[in-house]
Amino acid sequence: MSPVLKTLISEDQIKTRVAELAAQIDRDYAGQELILVGVLNGAFIFLADLARRLQLPVRIDFIRLTSYGTAAVSSGEVRIMKDVELPLRDRHVLVVEDIMDSGLTLDFLRRHLLGHRPASLKICCLIDKLERQDVKVPLDYVGFTVPKGFLVGYGLDYAHQYRHCPEICELSLENADPQ
Ligand code: IMP
Ligand code: MG
Repeated sequence: MSPVLKTLISEDQIKTRVAELAAQIDRDYAGQELILVGVLNGAFIFLADLARRLQLPVRIDFIRLTSYGTAAVSSGEVRIMKDVELPLRDRHVLVVEDIMDSGLTLDFLRRHLLGHRPASLKICCLIDKLERQDVKVPLDYVGFTVPKGFLVGYGLDYAHQYRHCPEICELSLENADPQ
């Protein structure tokens, strides 16, 4: 099996959409302070680009969750590997996530962060994958919707590879041509 990458979303498309999301967030939170909670590892590039487009005063924290291991299909169990460190109580909190597939990760994260009693909690997700969605999680800001497929690049990985690819690609595993 050899991996085949097909570009779905170009660098330019990502750049334009991230700027649009930042402008919308700036408008929605005008006059307020925001804490961005990036979900490691996948959201690190998206968060870095989005944060640099925001005019608002922001603080940045990270949480690391795991459900996938190195497989392409979720194990269904979400665990916290690194929790947030900033106090979130009475703060406006915006989760920054790379992609929603089954919704299990964001559903777990939402409940976990609501336990900190923030003033508000919203979710900004770069990609909303429409294929599965076992759990319905309200997404407040969405970069792109895709119908299906396994995506890599711009932070997204397959077995820890391809995160540094500047565009978003669909990965498929195909049999190598028989010689
Ligand atoms: P969910 O819990 O099934 O919604 O999965 C969410 C997490 O799985 C995301 O935070 C990603 O890290 C990972 N994930 C889901 N779909 C993909 C994909 O297409 N490519 C890479 N990672 C993915
Ligand atoms: Mg993730």
